[in-house]
Amino acid sequence: MSRLNLSHLRKMKTEQTKIAVLTAYDASFAHVLEQAGVDVILVGDSLGMVIQGQESTLPVTVDDMIYHTQNVVRGTESVFVIADMPFMSYANSEQAIKNAARLMAEGGAHMVKLEGGAVVADTVKQLTDRGIPVCAHLGLLPQSVHRLGGYKVQGRDQDTADQLVNDALILQEAGADMVVLECVPASLAKRITSEVDMAVIGIGAGSDVDGQVLVLYDMLGLTPGKRPRFTHDFLADTGAIPAAIANYVHAVKSLEFPRQEHHF
Ligand code: KIV
Repeated sequence: MSRLNLSHLRKMKTEQTKIAVLTAYDASFAHVLEQAGVDVILVGDSLGMVIQGQESTLPVTVDDMIYHTQNVVRGTESVFVIADMPFMSYANSEQAIKNAARLMAEGGAHMVKLEGGAVVADTVKQLTDRGIPVCAHLGLLPQSVHRLGGYKVQGRDQDTADQLVNDALILQEAGADMVVLECVPASLAKRITSEVDMAVIGIGAGSDVDGQVLVLYDMLGLTPGKRPRFTHDFLADTGAIPAAIANYVHAVKSLEFPRQEHHF
């Protein structure tokens, strides 16, 4: 079985076929996700919180990411796997190249994801010039949670909205092939999606984007505490994990998820 690749994902954007993405961190869940029709698995540094029980993603290391990426890749045959670059692992271009290369060569990732706008554009260019596919991450940046003062919706006013559009265009120019847009108003996500050619994957960004991503444990209702407004407990609807994942994929592809109540 051949793996989904960037050409397929670009075609999905052009043909307006929604891309279903979920996070996973181990081989067994990754296999279930693949069987249920998920297109892309993100080995997110959210593993710091949902696997390790940390308060934020900040303590996650490159070695942690490699270990979990290896497990996900081993458990799958056909999905495209993106690995997060953890906090401060891309503070300068040299470090970014070394760590991204480890995630690809040792971890087996097919793309790396890093957080930030124009400030990381040079790093994105250095990576993509060397053949490393990059997914950008804009809006709510969990690695900057202390600077942002909490997990808050971003881009609500005109200036920050314009800045995010500009960031997306600069990152695309630097070579990014995909962008995760987290917790921004649905109208802004729609604007960015229409202005860029790269695939826009939303989380708390409304339905006018090219695909959706959720943290697996959130959409299975397993995350302790208050569930973020933009998620839905798919397991509660079905009582079985494979059916919950399949329902998520169907809901994303048929535009039944996210609904208005999940939008900002
Ligand atoms: O780490 C992660 O799981 C992520 C998603 C929230 C998009 O970056």
